[in-house]
Amino acid sequence: MKKSIFLFALATLFFASCGNNASTSDSSATESTDTEMTEEAPAAAEDEAIVTIKGDDAMKYDITEIKVKEGQTVSLTLVHTGKAPVAAMGHNWVLLKQGVDMEKFATAAINAKDNDYIPKDMEGDVIAHTKTIGGGETTDIEFTAPAKGTYDFLCSFPGHHATMKGKFIVE
Ligand code: CO
Repeated sequence: MKKSIFLFALATLFFASCGNNASTSDSSATESTDTEMTEEAPAAAEDEAIVTIKGDDAMKYDITEIKVKEGQTVSLTLVHTGKAPVAAMGHNWVLLKQGVDMEKFATAAINAKDNDYIPKDMEGDVIAHTKTIGGGETTDIEFTAPAKGTYDFLCSFPGHHATMKGKFIVE
């Protein structure tokens, strides 16, 4: 009798922790299997590109160039390594379609705080974007790499694109 209650409690704990893991991670089953099987990490499947980009309190990304292959599923994680709150030092990651004027987009984004700094009438200019996060936060997105070519990415938080921008290269 006591033993069965104990087992029930164990099972409950087990399922509770599984549930937590599932809700905090968007990564697919294949992704985690791949990283577990090989120590050297760039072991993503051919059809998947795993990208991590960090933003800090100095208004900088840690990388300014990202390379993926056409048609790959891009799993991109944005990490805010700083401490400043989102209202003061918010970061997002926005990938623009080719030919979009970054200055024009960034200027319009100043008034789009309630839409993660994506101007509602320019959503069609965006291939993919994360939400806007503050210090200590992490967010991730998944999207399909567009056609071969070079694309601009930026943080569209007011004033940030001057230092927070880079090239997204699809090969
Ligand atoms: Co920013």
